[in-house]
Amino acid sequence: MHTACFIDGAFVPARDGRTFAVRNPATDAIVAQVAEGGAGDARAAVDAAARAFPAWKSLAAIERARHLRRIAELMHRDAERLADLCSQECGKPLAEARTEVSYAASFLEWYAEEGKRVYGETIPASDPAKRLLVLRRPCGVAAAITPWNFPIAMVTRKMGPALAAGCTQVVKPAEQTPLSALAIAALAGEAGLPAGVLNVVPGTDAPAIASAFLDTLHVRHVSFTGSTEVGRILLRQSAEQVVRMSLELGGHAPFIVFDDADLDAAVAGAMASKFRNAGQTCVCANRFLVQRGVHDAFVDRLTAAVAALKVGDGRAAGTQIGPLIDDAGLRKAEAHVADARALGARATTGGARAAVAGCADRFMQPTVLVGVTPAMRCFREETFGPVAPVCAFDHEADALRIANDTPYGLAAYVFTRDGARIVRMTEELQYGIVGVNDALPATAQAPFGGVKHSGLGREGGRQGIEEYLDLRYVSWRVG
Ligand code: SIN
Repeated sequence: MHTACFIDGAFVPARDGRTFAVRNPATDAIVAQVAEGGAGDARAAVDAAARAFPAWKSLAAIERARHLRRIAELMHRDAERLADLCSQECGKPLAEARTEVSYAASFLEWYAEEGKRVYGETIPASDPAKRLLVLRRPCGVAAAITPWNFPIAMVTRKMGPALAAGCTQVVKPAEQTPLSALAIAALAGEAGLPAGVLNVVPGTDAPAIASAFLDTLHVRHVSFTGSTEVGRILLRQSAEQVVRMSLELGGHAPFIVFDDADLDAAVAGAMASKFRNAGQTCVCANRFLVQRGVHDAFVDRLTAAVAALKVGDGRAAGTQIGPLIDDAGLRKAEAHVADARALGARATTGGARAAVAGCADRFMQPTVLVGVTPAMRCFREETFGPVAPVCAFDHEADALRIANDTPYGLAAYVFTRDGARIVRMTEELQYGIVGVNDALPATAQAPFGGVKHSGLGREGGRQGIEEYLDLRYVSWRVG
């Protein structure tokens, strides 16, 4: 297990020699002591990335692709070890962690190919003696600040496009989950990635590390996945060096089920969307809007499926719902349930903490709440826990109004068989991602990101690499 900072191709201790403990949220056991990187380490990482940039950007795209593919191959080779590490540090069930490893590798595989298609343009000039060209050039060092809920995939979702574009990168992984990012760095070293192209600075003082990243002209792009609150701080800080930002921030996804929906598909989708990673994903359904005609049938089926979920240590066989990441996460989910009940909602299953033998007190029973109204906290704020609040609606226009009545706009889901309604909903929902009869839309090939307070920019798809490219217009007088 690698626990030191990864700077300039080598694992090195933090400059001041300090370390911090990474704990398994299921058991509170210490998984490892990890280097406590700070501003000095972050600056060293940026310097290394800046030194590596000229050679890396000059490599043929096909060579950069070879490196990315090789790292992906090593990830597949070590999938079981990476999944176990991921489950230990973020608590997610092993089966989900295994899926995350291949999802994570897919960003390297996709961008290995996409990097070969960074095409320029020629523009017909009005002066026949001129040739007008548009080149797309890597922007410089890219900084990535990644979250704990997908400790592997959120690193590679930023690393794939950055490295494929010809940028070098510095990564600050979430303090809860630095080990997965360091494991990727080790595989990058094994794959022969040149020193300095990828650097990882773990640490608990995120503001100090982020400020060091933002305090230099070398860093020309910052990609952050996390809360809207922190995204705003970074956006303000980015003004000083005028740095481009991609922000993937909070979500508050509506999951809308119409009377004409395939109810089996809607319930299966609800389970996949809401309960993946114990409800701790930015795109997970945060509120269910169910048309009155199918409301009771939907709630009955959802309740039965949720009541059957197995809660436990992510590494234990058969676990489907792991712990919340920390005590604050558990308290927030509990507070949302308590608030909803106080205002008249009822739990059809769950609604309390779950005791898991031999584990920490950090588990929530998967919960379904009915009789939920827009006045309740769970209907206005992101819960980030295994709580499914259900609210009945009568007309399509009501569903649309309630769904859009939020400053967030990351993902929305619609379950219906009516083609005309699908057109109306996909055009009118104010969200960056709309899943139509599909609860798991995220994939390396498509642009992932939100509108309004959910963020800026896109990750994934051909759009994802654009974030790392500057346009350079060349006006060439040939005669
Ligand atoms: C996220 O929660 O931000 C990522 C979810 C995903 O990629 O599916």
